[in-house]
Amino acid sequence: KNKICLVGGGSTFTPGIVKSIVERSEDLNLEEVVLYDIDEERQKKVSVIVEWILRKQLKSNVTLTVTTDAEQAFTGAKFIFAQMRVGGYKMREQDEKIPLSFGCVGQETCGAGGLAYGLRTIGPMIELIDQVEKYALADHWILNYSNPAAIVSEACRKIRPKARIINVCDMPIAIIDMIAGSLNITDTSEIKYDYFGLNHFGWFTSITYRDRDLLEEIKNYVNEHKILLPPQYIERLKENRATGDRHAVSSWIHVWESVYTMLQAFPDYLPNTYLTYYLLQKETVEHQNPDLTRANEVMNTREKALFEGVDKYLSTGEVDESSFHAGSHGDWISDLAVALLNDTKTRFLVITENKGAIPNMPYDAMVEVPAYVGKNGPEVIAQEPVPLFYQGLMMQQLNSEKLIVEAYIENSYEKALQSFSLNKTIPSINVARLVLEALIKENESYWPDL
Ligand code: G6P
Ligand code: MN
Repeated sequence: KNKICLVGGGSTFTPGIVKSIVERSEDLNLEEVVLYDIDEERQKKVSVIVEWILRKQLKSNVTLTVTTDAEQAFTGAKFIFAQMRVGGYKMREQDEKIPLSFGCVGQETCGAGGLAYGLRTIGPMIELIDQVEKYALADHWILNYSNPAAIVSEACRKIRPKARIINVCDMPIAIIDMIAGSLNITDTSEIKYDYFGLNHFGWFTSITYRDRDLLEEIKNYVNEHKILLPPQYIERLKENRATGDRHAVSSWIHVWESVYTMLQAFPDYLPNTYLTYYLLQKETVEHQNPDLTRANEVMNTREKALFEGVDKYLSTGEVDESSFHAGSHGDWISDLAVALLNDTKTRFLVITENKGAIPNMPYDAMVEVPAYVGKNGPEVIAQEPVPLFYQGLMMQQLNSEKLIVEAYIENSYEKALQSFSLNKTIPSINVARLVLEALIKENESYWPDL
């Protein structure tokens, strides 16, 4: 019988993820779910809803443990789902707003903000690996989706090369869901795709559904609508714009619109929406609101709804299911655990050491590619060489990410500055220095001394 531990139990994503796990109780041979967080109060609130999901909604008798003690959390655990957010949404807000105040893209995982978040997360991630190795089962797996995943996974590869960790991201799946919604396909399990890149920096090279070529279909759809979103969202968007209600339109909309612009220029592959920040950096900055970024949006919506939902439940005993978020990423991460446990060799996208999978990328690059996942982890599928344009973009980004990890290890200001200067979202070395220095100040209690 297995014990699964969620690191970052106080996350707004926790209720949805626990639901996905417990729905797979049989396949996971599940006995216990543990929520582990360093923020006791926050986690306690979230656990109220989790308890309701388990007992009332799913009628499950799986044990639920809520703890801030690492030994208790990890002892005997088979799977550790890691979703830590070092510094919380408060620091995410700084990652977005500080670069923006210097005219650079403000994003939690891309550009200067992502590099800052990376420097905050490496230390706690290594500490987590060490604690898990001390207490968990010898054949445990850490499924990590803590951001910024590209930097975190490179740091783990370098600092703890033997760790039993698999780094993953749900964005390609979220894009597939949007495509399915746009083309009216309900059975997403039959959609097959090829993909190459780095995390939050990749492209779909083919997408098929039975004998349909969805890559061609979605390109036509995007050309017609000038956005990659299902029709009902497009309608809502139009209504909101007609009434001038800009705030009703999430900041995410811009990235779904950017797919059109990126495809116009380079129609061969479908880009991950995160490429917007690197290929349309100027337009992104013009579009972003320096006083109201995605962190504010999340705090004002997803987080607020969850905590209000908890308060309402505690005072009235009623649960409003719309108050907690249950996206497809919980399903997907739980399916990954099922594949590892039952040796199913199911195909997933993973972030993993290249080892020749992409022949014209370095051997030790952390790349995001499809792999068959069984009990020994991912077996990566070999790719064709990447055309020069894409390879050049990837190399620039890869080296920026590698340099920030080296800056962490060597306490090197110079390498941090090189990392910032090499990043495509930062236009000059002077701006790089200014942004870096502002971020050093803000991250004083989190970063190593550079
Ligand atoms: C996608 C990405 C994640 C990221 C999330 C942010 O799912 O793959 O890496 O954490 O978006 O979503 P949010 O709603 O918090 O902006
Ligand atoms: Mn991601």
